[in-house]
Amino acid sequence: MTNARPRLTVSGLHKQFLLHGQGGLEIDVMRDLSLTLHAGECLVLAGRSGIGKSTLLKMLHGDYCIDQGRIRLHFDDGTLDLETLPAYAWHGLRRDVIGYVSQFLRVVPRVAAVDVVMEPLLARGADEQDARQRAETLLARLNLPERLWQLPPGTFSGGEQQRVNIARGFIGEHPLLLLDEPTASLDATNRDVVIALIGEAKARGAAMLGIFHDEDVRDRVADRLLPLDDSLGARASFTRDVQETLS
Ligand SMILES: Nc1ncnc2c1ncn2[C@@H]1O[C@H](COP(=O)(O)OP(=O)(O)OP(=O)(O)O)[C@@H](O)[C@H]1O
Ligand SMILES: [Mg+2]
Repeated sequence: MTNARPRLTVSGLHKQFLLHGQGGLEIDVMRDLSLTLHAGECLVLAGRSGIGKSTLLKMLHGDYCIDQGRIRLHFDDGTLDLETLPAYAWHGLRRDVIGYVSQFLRVVPRVAAVDVVMEPLLARGADEQDARQRAETLLARLNLPERLWQLPPGTFSGGEQQRVNIARGFIGEHPLLLLDEPTASLDATNRDVVIALIGEAKARGAAMLGIFHDEDVRDRVADRLLPLDDSLGARASFTRDVQETLS
């Protein structure tokens, strides 16, 4: 079930954080969130800082557990229920189906930038030369100076690290991509490159759920907006056409 173009459905999703270090304080972050994401579209999450946008992406990536609700991936030949997916199955799902560009690069000491980028392809058993070539092509496209390719990204600037992160996220051409503010620390030239990468991913049928604070980028990549709000101390959420939301 890995080579099809999945549709993602989320229904009745709840998320609560229990802070044991704060006397068992409970924070309601998400209540009854539902959405559908189709192949070839980019749905953009909107809402104030702290509303739960990154939390949703982390739940979809299996980094945060799902307290209540359903997350399903529908393939041509079957459906995967993510809330009941056994822990061992997440590795293969992330390798083959769900890509994630996190807000910040998780730097691994001593691993060169080009190796960080090509690693998702090697994990699938790709030829090393081919993987390296594709990683270099992406890094060049994202204007990362060639002198940095063989260096570990720990000392890179924020924008340089983010470009390594973006290259790593897009190289695998996952059918479902989660994008957490991928353009936040980029200059206009590199923002345009990321917008082009998103357009190419759509054209090959990838489904994307993204967070973009930059309204110009949002307008250029969003097919629909999903506004999250604070009503009732949790949030009501619904989808609308981007045109309608932006007007
Ligand atoms: N692991 C965690 N433990 C406790 N609280 C958390 C955890 N992760 C997130 N939160 C809380 O959940 C809320 C939502 O956080 P989240 O990072 O999803 O917000 P966001 O909408 O992505 O904000 P921003 O636009 O600033 O990135 C915040 O109040 C945050 O403090
Ligand atoms: Mg966030």
